[in-house]
Amino acid sequence: MVILPKISVVGLGKLGSPLLACAAAKGFSTVGYDVNDQVSANIRKGESPVLEPGLQSLMSANRSRIKVADNYQTVVRETSVTFITVPTPSNANGRFSVEMVLQAVRALGKSLVKKNSYHLVVVVSTVLPGDMRQNILVELEQASSKKCGKDFGLCYNPAFIALGNVIHDLLNPDFVLIGESDQRAGKELADFYEVFCDNKPNLLRMNWVNAELAKIAINTYVTTKISFANMLAEMSEVLPNADVEVVTKALANDRRINPAYFRGALGYGGPCFPRDNLALGALAKELGLQANIAEATDQINRRQAFRVIKRIEPYLKKQTKVLILGMSYKPKTNVIESSQSIDIVNELLELNALVEVYDPLALEAAKQKLGHRVLYANSLEQGVRKADIIILATPDQTFLQLMGFKFKSETKKVLLDCWRLLDEKRLDKSIQYLALGRGRTVRKPA
Ligand SMILES: NC(=O)c1ccc[n+]([C@@H]2O[C@H](COP(=O)([O-])OP(=O)(O)OC[C@H]3O[C@@H](n4cnc5c(N)ncnc54)[C@H](O)[C@@H]3O)[C@@H](O)[C@H]2O)c1
Repeated sequence: MVILPKISVVGLGKLGSPLLACAAAKGFSTVGYDVNDQVSANIRKGESPVLEPGLQSLMSANRSRIKVADNYQTVVRETSVTFITVPTPSNANGRFSVEMVLQAVRALGKSLVKKNSYHLVVVVSTVLPGDMRQNILVELEQASSKKCGKDFGLCYNPAFIALGNVIHDLLNPDFVLIGESDQRAGKELADFYEVFCDNKPNLLRMNWVNAELAKIAINTYVTTKISFANMLAEMSEVLPNADVEVVTKALANDRRINPAYFRGALGYGGPCFPRDNLALGALAKELGLQANIAEATDQINRRQAFRVIKRIEPYLKKQTKVLILGMSYKPKTNVIESSQSIDIVNELLELNALVEVYDPLALEAAKQKLGHRVLYANSLEQGVRKADIIILATPDQTFLQLMGFKFKSETKKVLLDCWRLLDEKRLDKSIQYLALGRGRTVRKPA
């Protein structure tokens, strides 16, 4: 019988709490720790601290293997592997701040002083090339008075997850990136993943700096694909009879081009993607280099909300009621951070439009951000009935219901479908349908 190590997770937010619950579900005894007492109290009660599909049931089913500590000594004493999943917010210059990671490793280090056995520290929080060696290692060795590679191991193990799909993504990664201080540390982490994953991913073991660069490179490469598709979408909109969907699907037939994240629609948003290009740019600058592709990707992304406004501007009159469907940065999450919808709302308010918003999950988060500046629809139907213009901003399957709606209206409503989610033929005839990424239809010559 394999004896599983006891593991701890420090920072129990959108990434840390699913990681804790998944490890418990895989049979690991787990200890979580968070500086936020409310987060700890929720998990102690068996309640998920964040909204993430499947997390609540996973936590409830595995409560017996989830303990929440109220100090770092317990974390270090009761477990042999600690994953750090605390925030690394962006600085004014675009770099990721590792301040909270350093606070965590300082506290871990102080508790390690009294520990006689080996401990593995795994940084999952996103950091930039050089941070592991220059900052995190130094802090941990100083605080613990111990030697990395001998008394403890230190790995960088960034996560590749999408909110709304975190549990699946954690348990079924395409690959696992392990930046290791030494063989033993990397092997222990690789052994953990052999048990943890549902699939059999490639375990890519390398030194810290290569893992650090690979993480930021993967994220920025994906955003480059998105901005590239959006560039094609912009062109398609002014080319008669063009349709970006047809074009990107054609490209995706080429073995060299993967279809994932390759659709011309709205731009990217959320807590990770928008800041990654800025961080890569900041790193390049420090290195005396230029990250032109990252800069262009970011620039294209920043103009996507204007593109939407330009498309509906001809229909905007004084006091036009505009309904935005989807406020989160993507479906299946309530996170509205850097959401394109927020940018669209701000642009519309500048133009004195009357804005109402609807989202199946993120209405509360939107209220906190936008307050009294907009109206909030209680249901999809209620919002749509009152609107003159409807902007479908996220490809949430809930909005497919629009195809069953009937309207009794004297004036035609305009619907801009940013994701080409709906079938125009199945919409009520009183709606004028527009799609992002498609040019106007011009008949063939007779
Ligand atoms: N959310 C994502 O989609 C995602 C994806 C990949 C990587 N990441 C990275 O993971 C890290 C965490 O992101 P998140 O979205 O889970 O953040 P989050 O804000 O949702 O959660 C972080 C948690 O850490 C706690 N915390 C802060 N300082 C602490 C400390 N010193 N000790 C213990 N707990 C502490 C906070 O109270 C909070 O509960 C970041 O570096 C982020 O870039 C996030």
